[in-house]
Amino acid sequence: MLNVENVSTYYGQICALDNVSIKVEEKEAVSVIGSNGAGKSTLLKTIIGELRPKNGDIQLSGRSIINEKTFKLVSRGMTLVPEGRHVFPLLSVWDNLLLGGYTIPSRERHQRAEEVTEPFPILRERKDQLAGLLSGGEQQMLAIARAMMTSPRLLLLDEPSMGLSPKLVYEVYEKISDLHLQGTTILLVDQNAEMAIDFCSRGYVLMAGSLVGHGSKSELKESEIVHRSYLG
Ligand SMILES: Nc1ncnc2c1ncn2[C@@H]1O[C@H](COP(=O)(O)OP(=O)(O)OP(=O)(O)O)[C@@H](O)[C@H]1O
Ligand SMILES: [Mg+2]
Repeated sequence: MLNVENVSTYYGQICALDNVSIKVEEKEAVSVIGSNGAGKSTLLKTIIGELRPKNGDIQLSGRSIINEKTFKLVSRGMTLVPEGRHVFPLLSVWDNLLLGGYTIPSRERHQRAEEVTEPFPILRERKDQLAGLLSGGEQQMLAIARAMMTSPRLLLLDEPSMGLSPKLVYEVYEKISDLHLQGTTILLVDQNAEMAIDFCSRGYVLMAGSLVGHGSKSELKESEIVHRSYLG
């Protein structure tokens, strides 16, 4: 479904991704783990077209998307839930959802907002409240529901557990798991390596912009480097 081939991305002279290749098959859940500054967010931003790689190719369902604009990629079934949630704090919960549906016809947006909030009753209860007044976990739920407005087949998640209490982390992962069970393919980045590895069937390890490992869930758990660097 998604094929990232030898991609390098720079910020000016700084190489943030160096010759990275990853694959995600239809219906899979795949993790990318790595510490601060490893290049995880850069990878997701490059995939969704917010950053242009200097070399390499990215294909979605067999077609190169390297020159596609982000909104085109969203219409083609790929959405990013960015790091730090980025809900619009001064807009209502409902208006945040409607904005997430910017690529679908406006007459369908309310109906779709009803559908995506079905697993998130709290968002329905708070639909007219300013999004900035939601708790961290609720904002994360809103960011995920908003990303679902365009019915993505591939959902890119950047640090969904960041800043959340253990209980909320568990709740957020439960929701992501439901979306996965309903058929959404997931590419997940999380500094919480244990959660990410456990959730996904396979994963990649990124260090200072380079891939240093990949494997199945059990291979990652047994890997010396993963243990030493991320699982303590
Ligand atoms: N806009 C930018 N301009 C210059 N350098 C940047 C920019 N964004 C990121 N970088 C650098 O690129 C590298 C990779 O950053 P990135 O945000 O992808 O890391 P990350 O793995 O997502 O880290 P974290 O876990 O802290 O979110 C880092 O060295 C970072 O300082
Ligand atoms: Mg990041």
